[in-house]
Amino acid sequence: MAHRIAVIPGDGIGKEVMPEGVRTLEAAAKCFNIELEFEYFDFASCDYFIEHGQMLPDDWFETLKGFDAIFYGAVGWPETVPDHISLWGSLLQFRRRFDQYVNLRPCRLLPGIKSPLADRQPGDIDFYVVRENTEGEYSSVGGKMFEGTEREVVIQETVMTRHGTDRVLKYAFDLAQSRPRRKLTSATKSNGIAITMPWWDERVAAMGQHYPEVTVDQFHIDILTAHFVMHPDWFDVVVASNLFGDILSDLGPACTGTIGVAPSANINPEGTFPSLFEPVHGSAPDIAGRGVANPIGQIWSGAMLLEHLGHQEAANAIVAAFEAVLAACDNSVLTPDIGGQGTTEILGRAIARAISDGR
Ligand code: NAI
Ligand code: MG
Repeated sequence: MAHRIAVIPGDGIGKEVMPEGVRTLEAAAKCFNIELEFEYFDFASCDYFIEHGQMLPDDWFETLKGFDAIFYGAVGWPETVPDHISLWGSLLQFRRRFDQYVNLRPCRLLPGIKSPLADRQPGDIDFYVVRENTEGEYSSVGGKMFEGTEREVVIQETVMTRHGTDRVLKYAFDLAQSRPRRKLTSATKSNGIAITMPWWDERVAAMGQHYPEVTVDQFHIDILTAHFVMHPDWFDVVVASNLFGDILSDLGPACTGTIGVAPSANINPEGTFPSLFEPVHGSAPDIAGRGVANPIGQIWSGAMLLEHLGHQEAANAIVAAFEAVLAACDNSVLTPDIGGQGTTEILGRAIARAISDGR
């Protein structure tokens, strides 16, 4: 049966990298006899907002909920729509209503890409950040009193539930269990945040009981960020609450070079709702319209999409293809962010060709 994919290019370079994401998915699908059916949507973009006064149509939930996955570009055009409106009106609605409680980001140093960390080679950095994506520090519990007076007070509560914490920990432990190193690192701050974080540590220890083969360690978030930079080779799977995960999942990919290659997945592991796959980068207004954005973040997100749908081999083929193209270091093919003079389309086509050649 065909997998139904909702394609939402969004804004700016989202519209430029998406065709390459779809091109490479189609190439992989053809090689591995996978049936993919793409349906395109123009909502969740600032152009849609300008025409309709809202980011999404009223029936977006009904429209999208039956899809097997959502393939997203990027949202945001601050010149016309403020960022908090475009983001809250689109992506954050998807994450919440579709209960995409795992935010997954691979951090891997690729061949041909220079890490900002000195002397790091491909193989030295290869880990995942698993971020809790629905609760924690990003809660709507709290409020403001005596606004504008001397007595002004603001409170925002962290909300951690056993349900919400255990399910993301289970995902992270399963992932660690499936990898050769079988190592899990938990981000904590139980010295300073003395109620929720010691409890988080307890839940990690309790979940760890079910995974005797997984080695577990933990670091306070402050020193953990330092270790990401000093010792990225220590990590395999790193699990974190919403806020800590937000920080780590930007820092991790930053340690591996350009933001243009980093992918991410917002996953509803049970498949009750579609999961969403998107590059880490935004709409990049500074380079939009020139056709020079790096499409690898979008393409790698497509590989994560296929993996999520159970097509591991096809996903591996996409990753192998862009690694091969990067390793070849042909400057007429690579985009300017990684030192070349190529375009989004030239690089996308080269990767699609490498997928077909690899078979
Ligand atoms: P950004 O990721 O769009 O750009 C940051 C810098 O990285 C820019 O200099 C850009 O040219 C460069 N860059 C980004 N992607 C690239 C690629 N594929 N190839 C080459 N260079 C690339 O972040 P920024 O500028 O903070 O935000 C711009 C807009 O994107 C805002 O409206 C923001 O809200 C939105 N945004 C959306 C995200 C999403 O859709 N998930 C994530 C981050 C930002
Ligand atoms: Mg972030």
